[in-house]
Amino acid sequence: MPKLRSLPVRKLRPHLANPTKGEGKPTQKLASRKIDELAKRIRLCVKCPLHQSRTLAVPGEGKKQAKFMVIGEAPGKQEDLAGRPFVGNAGRYLDHVLEGTGIQREDFFITNIVKCRPPSNRTPKRDEIQTCTSLYLFEQIRLVDPKLILLLGNTAVKAMLSLNSVDEARGRIISHDQRTYLATYHPAVRFYREDLAQKIKEDFALLKTELLRHDSVLSPS
Ligand code: URA
Repeated sequence: MPKLRSLPVRKLRPHLANPTKGEGKPTQKLASRKIDELAKRIRLCVKCPLHQSRTLAVPGEGKKQAKFMVIGEAPGKQEDLAGRPFVGNAGRYLDHVLEGTGIQREDFFITNIVKCRPPSNRTPKRDEIQTCTSLYLFEQIRLVDPKLILLLGNTAVKAMLSLNSVDEARGRIISHDQRTYLATYHPAVRFYREDLAQKIKEDFALLKTELLRHDSVLSPS
């Protein structure tokens, strides 16, 4: 039998083997250092074609031991210029709805499925998602180790839960690969889908209930 065939599945396809957990939990100090190192690597990354058109890569930011994490799709124009996530219009709307739940930016870690802006804000391609999640996002989740993850939009839902859309995922707590998720529409849809306003309101009400249930999510770790 050729040698490759005897390799465990995890080595061949790390994205399929509960990649956000890993073995053992690093100390807070080590995790914090590794998150910074990862951010440095992301800023210099040339592993997929998205690096060619980006201005700045956007690793993500926030509390390194956050109990609540937010994952969007990809940086947009403002984020690409600033090197920071959700600083444009979608970010302002996100801040607004999150404030309604009693949570501020300093309380959570926020990042994206891919760390570089796709040309003309197109949806990231499968290979780009696979490269970026397996190199960076899964490791960020493992190191931050949040109790609750909010997924924003179809790309995040598909990449993290292997479901087809937000409509399939929203309105309930999802346990997947020993992590707890909530999903809602991407905040940018609010600008062209007025009809989703009520559903978004419901989703953030559910988020608020969950945050209160784990009231430790808001307290210092
Ligand atoms: N949209 C996203 O999904 N992420 C950002 O950082 C900004 C806009």
